[in-house]
Formats: sequence, C-alpha cells, structure tokens
Amino acid sequence: MKKKIDVPIEESIRQKQIMDKLSVYIKGKKLKYHLSTFGCQMNAHDSEKLKGILEEIGYEATDQESDADFVIYNTCCVRENAELKVYGRLGSLKHNKKNNPNMLIALCGCMMQQDAVISKIKQTYRHVDILFGTHNLYKLAELIQTRLDTGKMVIDIWDNHKEIVEDLPSIRKFDFKASVNIMFGCNNFCTYCIVPYVRGRERSRKPEDILKEIQELVADGVVEITLLGQNVNSYGKSLDKPMSFAALIQAIEKIEGLKRIRFMTSHPKDLSDELIDVIRTSKKLSDHIHLPFQSGSTRLLQKMNRRYTKEQYLELVRKIKEANPNVALTTDIIVGFPGETEEDFEETLDVVRQVMFDNAFTFIYSKRTGTPAATMEGQVPEEVTKERFNRLCDLMNEVAAKRSGLKVGQVEDVLVEQVNRQDDSLVTGRISSNHIVHLKGTKVLIGKIVPVTIVENKTYYLLGESIQQA
Ligand code: SAH
Ligand code: SF4
Ligand code: F3S
Repeated sequence: MKKKIDVPIEESIRQKQIMDKLSVYIKGKKLKYHLSTFGCQMNAHDSEKLKGILEEIGYEATDQESDADFVIYNTCCVRENAELKVYGRLGSLKHNKKNNPNMLIALCGCMMQQDAVISKIKQTYRHVDILFGTHNLYKLAELIQTRLDTGKMVIDIWDNHKEIVEDLPSIRKFDFKASVNIMFGCNNFCTYCIVPYVRGRERSRKPEDILKEIQELVADGVVEITLLGQNVNSYGKSLDKPMSFAALIQAIEKIEGLKRIRFMTSHPKDLSDELIDVIRTSKKLSDHIHLPFQSGSTRLLQKMNRRYTKEQYLELVRKIKEANPNVALTTDIIVGFPGETEEDFEETLDVVRQVMFDNAFTFIYSKRTGTPAATMEGQVPEEVTKERFNRLCDLMNEVAAKRSGLKVGQVEDVLVEQVNRQDDSLVTGRISSNHIVHLKGTKVLIGKIVPVTIVENKTYYLLGESIQQA
C-alpha cells in the first residue's frame, strides 16, 4: 500500500502549477474549508502549510465545520485518545456530508501512516475522500485534483521520504511569531513511542534553507521564531556538510531584526556542552528549555531506551541552570510505563522536586501497537496509574506556583499576542521564560514587545504592569 517515490527538485514548481490550474476552477465559487489540528507543534506547523495550499487554490477559511465544503483533519497518534477523537468526529461528519453532498473530507498526518488505520477507514468511513500521510502533504492540491477528476477515494501514503520540498505557501497563525522546521523524523525509538514509525528517519534541512526562511519571515515582521524538530539537539548530523545545532543557533542569532529564538524539543542525551555555552552567551535565545525526562527511575529510563540516567539528567539541569540562572525548565512525564513500581514513581516525584520545573506535560502511558513497550510485561492497572497521575499533578501545581511566584517584582519583556478573551481591557502575551502574562492594553500592542513589572502570580499566568504607563 505504501510507496517510495523520489521527488524531483522541481516538485515545488510542479505543485504550484497544479495549484494555479485548480484555482481557476475553485476561485469565485466561494468554497470554504475547515481544518482541525490534533497533534503537536510540528503537526500544527504542517497545518499552516496545508492552509497555505488551500487558500492558494481559492478556498476561504471558516470557523464552522458544518459550513465547510472541504473538511480536513491533521491527525495525531501519539496516544490512543488522539485517535479516538478523530474517529468520533468522523462519525458526525457523515451527517454533514448528507446535507452537503459536494463536501470533501480529507485526512492526513501521523495516524494515516499506520496500515491498520487506513484499512479501518476504507471499511468503516467510506465518506472520506482523500487520505494522505506525513511525507507528502505538499501534494494536497494534486490529490484534490485527482479526487475531482476520478470521483473516487484517493489514498496516497508514503513510507518515507529523503527529499525535503521547500518554498510552499503557508498561512501563519500570528504575523509576528513563527515556527520553522529544522529537521523531520526521529531515530531514537523510545520504546513507548510511535513517532519514529509515522514520521520516518531523521532528516535535517540545509542551514542555508533555514536561514533564508527566517530572513524572509523577519522581513515580513516576525520577531520570534521557534525552531522545531523531534530532537533538535541532533540537528545537522545527517547533512552532507554536518553542522551542530549550537552552530545553527549562532548563525540564526546574527539575523538582524530577529528578537527571540525558541526551540523544541531537546533530547537530554544529545544536549551538548557546546549548546550550553550558547545558552550562556546568547542574546536572543529565550530563557526557556523544554527538556522531557519521562521518568525519574534509571531502571525505567533504560526500558524506555532513553539513554540517560536520573543522575545524568540532574547533572544536565545543573549545568543549564549554571549557564543561565533565569532559565525556565519544562518537561514531559509519562506515568504508568510497563513495570513502573511505587519506588520508580517516587523517583519521578523526586526529579520534579529537585528540578523545580516551571511546567510539565504529564501523560498517562498509552499502549501503541507496534512499539516494543506494548508487549512488555507488567502493564500497570488503570486505577494505580490514575492515582499516581493525580499525585504528580498535585505536586506539579505546587512546584509551578512556587516557580511563577519568583517572577513577581521582576521586569520582563512581554511579546503581546492577542486581546484577552475574557476581559478585553487586557492583552495577553509571553515573556522570555514562556510564562503567560496579562496586562492592560489594546490591540495596538499586538506583536510589540512591552517591558512590564510582574505584579501578581496566578500560577499558570501572571499579571504585569507596563513600565511606560507607570
Ligand atoms: N520528541 C519529543 C516528544 C514527542 S511526543 C521528545 O522526545 O521529547 C511528546 C510526548 O508524548 C513525549 O515526550 C512523551 O512524554 C509523550 N508520549 C509519547 N508516547 C507516549 C505514549 N505511548 N503514552 C503516553 N505518552 C507518550
Ligand atoms: Fe518519540 Fe523518543 Fe523520538 Fe521523542 S525522541 S519522538 S519520545 S522516539
Ligand atoms: Fe506530533 Fe502526534 Fe505526530 S505528537 S509527530 S502529531 S503522532
């Protein structure tokens, strides 16, 4: 079912020609699209490219799925919940399609890279029109064209992809901040994780392509960028002319007009001393590092194939904090990995207490068919996992509140993102550490960097007062 295809260099030109042709047909018809993103930041960034293609060919965005002539789900399969949501929503789409028989439904993203999912959709969800995966999203216009020409369900899933297709249109969520892929795929095969199977092998973009994209974004008004990859610390290893992640950041830092650089995600095993030096000296790197530790138990870390110990993780944290005492650390934690004992879990709580994370994404282990952990002995009963999960959340709330409390009285730069949804006399943005701050202001501040004094800590957000107003 899956095929390997070598993409010619001129592929982006060919796709643009297809988009032009299709737009003649679609523009003027006032057709609307609705896109839902189910996954991580990378998935969300892919969605920006999908939107770019859809708008290029003449679809207009709508917030109402029921109004849309083209519905697209960019799916995730990292945990079972994410998949169940997609199936649930697909069920109700059947009804929408009855009311609007010309409506097209497309599914793409990580879930589609699994053969079992494709079989299930072919059997049970016949109302879906287009299925494609993570390696060929740049072909969306062509797939729509094929669907319109043939009237049949179009399925195009590739196993892997060596080439990276550059220069696609994209619709960014914000004018002033943007995400930039620096690499695709993952080679780590943590034993619980499905990502390496659905995103393929690690491939780095060439530094000149990354720099060109960022320069163009900055010329377009972007002041903050987030460099994206499943494991940014191993950036550049697969390039013809290898380059380290630290060297890439230093090159990006030179771009004038760019104010703030973020990145995610860092794998602790590959975070080099060279990068720690850049963290120490950089003027533009944000005071925030997302450093997933998953479990505090060295025994479990080994079973997870994470390739570091609890002690090595803590030592790395010590070095980072020494390099930048203002750094905010956030993390990912899995509770209930097969074989997790009360003692293992206590080690996880111990890491949270020692590191004092600013925030954590906490997950209940979800069995993913095809991964080594799925068949490991000692799957933890649900009630045990839930009880541990609640204890972890209680501790994290306490720790995060203490950490954000330290911000009170500090002067920080807020990059304002939007008018506050609950109270329109306020605007909301993020400071360098990624904490959310609300302050008095109007929409003219959106995209501006405003110095504030932090005056109150509300745990998951802070209140700030603009220094100019004081
Ligand atoms: N590449 C990133 C993580 C991508 S997935 C990294 O290694 O840091 C995001 C998070 O989902 C992981 O860090 C992990 O905590 C969680 N996760 C992945 N697979 C999972 C599973 N099977 N069950 C529960 N959580 C999982
Ligand atoms: Fe998954 Fe591990 Fe790769 Fe992250 S590093 S995407 S957790 S396999
Ligand atoms: Fe991201 Fe989910 Fe895929 S976490 S990489 S969208 S499986």
